[in-house]
Amino acid sequence: MELIRNYPTSLSISYFGAQGRFADEIIKIVMQNDTTASRYIDLTAGGMGVPYNLARNWKIPVTVNDLSFYSYICGIAVFEHMARFADYDDRLFRDIYSAVIPKEGFLTSKAGGKSITERYGNWSISVRKFVDALAEEAKSHEILLAALGRTLLNEGTFRGLTWCGTSPDKKKLADITVEEFWNKVMRNTAYFAILSEGIDASVKKNCQAYRSHASEFVKKYNEFEDAIVYMDPAWPWLPEFADASNPYNVVAHDIPEILLQNPMVMEPLWTRENPEEILNNLEFWISQPLLKGARRVIVSSQSTNYPPINEVDFFLKSKFNAQEVVMSTQFSGQAKSKMFTENWWVIKQ
Ligand SMILES: C[S@@+](CC[C@H](N)C(=O)[O-])C[C@H]1O[C@@H](n2cnc3c(N)ncnc32)[C@H](O)[C@@H]1O
Repeated sequence: MELIRNYPTSLSISYFGAQGRFADEIIKIVMQNDTTASRYIDLTAGGMGVPYNLARNWKIPVTVNDLSFYSYICGIAVFEHMARFADYDDRLFRDIYSAVIPKEGFLTSKAGGKSITERYGNWSISVRKFVDALAEEAKSHEILLAALGRTLLNEGTFRGLTWCGTSPDKKKLADITVEEFWNKVMRNTAYFAILSEGIDASVKKNCQAYRSHASEFVKKYNEFEDAIVYMDPAWPWLPEFADASNPYNVVAHDIPEILLQNPMVMEPLWTRENPEEILNNLEFWISQPLLKGARRVIVSSQSTNYPPINEVDFFLKSKFNAQEVVMSTQFSGQAKSKMFTENWWVIKQ
């Protein structure tokens, strides 16, 4: 079965805020032509485009960590899965499809909510029941679970930011049939299998995916020696760009709830009200890896974020040997019609 005509070479799980689109530029800043690092560790990996590029093209083992179960399960699907694309044939998909007996579960319980956000999209009851049954069926099949998450995200949200009433190809979500939805899941399953197969098995066997708070991760993890550590945290936005609501709600909360079929209390994320927590976390996330032998730690932010860049710069330079290597307008995009910059700090022992 020809599931995917153009074989993807870079990872896109359509994650909100993904940096994979300029992975090559980031890699120049991060790697600095250093091919001997033991591994690349991303503390807040999100959409994982940069780690994927490194594992695939630089053949360097990567460790991805994120609070979001959706990011984590996609990480397992890509970096820890040894299945081959060829294993995903018609018969396998037919067997899975016939094992799914639609039933009421978490997504079905959300039907009839007042707003699209409360309803988690405008899906029909039959698609909701199918999704709930498939989430159970896929519990022990990570690629399938990741594919289900990617399908919900791609079809039912606007760029992972908010739930919608229509899909990107302008079809009303309520009119999408179970069969159409399943076809998308199959494609996404194949998508992850192809991407995973793109990483050399010898590299992949040393790749790791974790789901933890970065503070817990840096405390417990013990493979920082000679590693390069990266973080692009979930900074709050400056007041002029957004209200205080959290842009990671759909990817870090709603999609995981559907996949896990469980209501979830979300870990509190950084807020503008608590800059001390942000700077304390930052210091800990940098100092622990350095203490445990990391070669360098890279922090990423944008000029749309809070605390403002000059304050982060002042803080990092007062605490560490930090160099702001790039403050480029080259990658500037539009945020609410205002230009913004991408900023990185490279911190060494
Ligand atoms: C800006 S996004 C990272 C995007 C990523 N660089 C990419 O290219 O897709 C920030 C990520 O931090 C995660 N996050 C927020 N708080 C966290 C924490 N305390 N520990 C670990 N991850 C966290 C969010 O779930 C989100 O995926």
